[in-house]
Amino acid sequence: MKVFINLKKYISLYLQSFALFWKASKTSSLILLFLVPIQAIAPAALIKLAQMLLDELLNTEISSQLLLFWGITFFISSAAVPINTSLQGILTDQLIAFVNTQLMEKSKTIKGLNLFEDPDFYDNLQFINSQASWQPVNLIVFGISMIRELITVISMLFLLARYNFWIALILLVAIIPQSLVSYHIQQNSFETMVTRSPDARKVQYYSEALLTTENAKEVRLFGMFDYFIKSYRRVYKRMHAQMKNIRLHQMWISLAFLVFSVVLSIGSLLWMIRDIQQGHASAGVFLIFVSTLTSTADGVYAFIENSSLLYDTLLYMEKYFSFMNVKEENDFSGELPFPQKTQDIVFNNISFKYPGQQQKALANVSFKVSAGERIAIVGENGSGKSTLVKLLMRFYDPQEGEILINNTPISELDINQYRKKFGVVFQDYARFYLPIRDAVGLGNPAKRHDEGLIISAMQKGGFYDSYVEKNLTLDTMLGKQFNGGIDLSGGQWQKIAISRAFMPSSKILILDEPTASLDPRSEFEIYQSFIEMTKGKTVFFITHRLSAVKMANRVLVLKNGEIIGLGSHDELMQNNSYYSELYNLQAQSFQ
Ligand SMILES: Nc1ncnc2c1ncn2[C@@H]1O[C@H](COP(=O)(O)OP(=O)(O)O)[C@@H](O)[C@H]1O
Ligand SMILES: [Mg+2]
Repeated sequence: MKVFINLKKYISLYLQSFALFWKASKTSSLILLFLVPIQAIAPAALIKLAQMLLDELLNTEISSQLLLFWGITFFISSAAVPINTSLQGILTDQLIAFVNTQLMEKSKTIKGLNLFEDPDFYDNLQFINSQASWQPVNLIVFGISMIRELITVISMLFLLARYNFWIALILLVAIIPQSLVSYHIQQNSFETMVTRSPDARKVQYYSEALLTTENAKEVRLFGMFDYFIKSYRRVYKRMHAQMKNIRLHQMWISLAFLVFSVVLSIGSLLWMIRDIQQGHASAGVFLIFVSTLTSTADGVYAFIENSSLLYDTLLYMEKYFSFMNVKEENDFSGELPFPQKTQDIVFNNISFKYPGQQQKALANVSFKVSAGERIAIVGENGSGKSTLVKLLMRFYDPQEGEILINNTPISELDINQYRKKFGVVFQDYARFYLPIRDAVGLGNPAKRHDEGLIISAMQKGGFYDSYVEKNLTLDTMLGKQFNGGIDLSGGQWQKIAISRAFMPSSKILILDEPTASLDPRSEFEIYQSFIEMTKGKTVFFITHRLSAVKMANRVLVLKNGEIIGLGSHDELMQNNSYYSELYNLQAQSFQ
């Protein structure tokens, strides 16, 4: 039964994958759809024509018509080869681009971060992504060869059956167990490859760790080379042992079947020889029979090999399709527009656990922020500050409670429009290796070409001074990844991220420890410009520098995911011992 289920799966994946060819390029697919069968039937047609020529030669004169026909068939079958090869190449390129853009488009539809926290999902995604540039090649090469060989084998068996039906039938039946075993092995090897993908990522990490500029200083200073090289060897050995077994297994099975099919061929040959000796068949027929037999055997071999290699690719495609169909549990169907006027933000009894975690990152958090307020959020590492921001941005939804804006739960608002209303600098901000104009401008894709706006965002974000000093232009490439790119210091990268947050004309600004890697002077300047820039806007800033909290109207104090204080700095200094302790601790260190 399992065989049939697998066969059904194989065929259904095959059809789904072929639909991709069609979507990737209708023209190339259409031409191949005609040419491949022609190329596939040609060998049988040539053998048949050769037999007719031989018959005429032995009996009468060769007709020129038949010769011409043979010539045309020969020409078509030869011409089909280079045309198919080039077209397949073209279609392959188109398919790779198609598959990759589909992946990117799909990623666009995943609004939250929940899925990314799921290790299985993440492993699969890495796996899909790492092979997306070459699996489509296999899909086309093996997928098309397989059909071609199938047609060739069927046409050969058809020819063969006219001479000896039983031999054709035996050959046909012999194909089945051989294919099943091949597919089974291929599935094993694929599963091993998938299950070893965490290992594969590990070995890749080990080698990268020693080869990137980021780590160059520390690995040299501490002499970490041997550790990484040893780790690489250890994990590689484990990975390799499994694959080696499977590959050797594959080889033995193939050899066994080879012996089987050679014996079968010799048997049929003997049968045919006996037929001739007994006068049932002519010498001409014998010649044709031998070439059909060898062509069939070759075709069967190629068919099994290609289809089992294709199986591997189809299993990859299965993962691809399942990613393309993945649905988020969180509901992003809200459609309401963002409120125009005063935006009060209310956290109503929010409790939240990260997926797969036991402990709550936030517990019973309630507070209200009025439009235009500046709120500082303070607390020790791990107290839930960044989590607060992630929930507000709806990267996750809380298990309990809701966040409201002007009394509307944010889950009812249109998510794309909603996110555009915020300018956010995350604690772990992204470094985009792009020209400055895009690295900053993409904070507001619609205004990406507005150079004035980009310059002004850089001024507000504090990057403009470096920009002028270093003689940069908007087209200067950031990051050493690409030719001509410049590298920046941590603080400068952060200023780029802050500038990006100033691109949208947002009503609400959030800075998550924006000054962590900035020097005191930059910090002062950024805060100063921040206060100026954000007049009338709602601002949340998470900071470790308690000197900055004085700029806030109110301070929210978090400890272990709970709010333990909310009020002005002065109030908290008087009434909240935890807060005053935190503050004094830091004040001391500056004395
Ligand atoms: N993606 C995540 N998955 C699981 N736990 C997380 C994740 N991010 C943060 N946490 C945990 O949630 C708690 C709050 O983290 P966070 O909000 O980042 O703290 P803070 O920003 O105050 O330093 C911490 O215990 C942290 O380990
Ligand atoms: Mg944080």
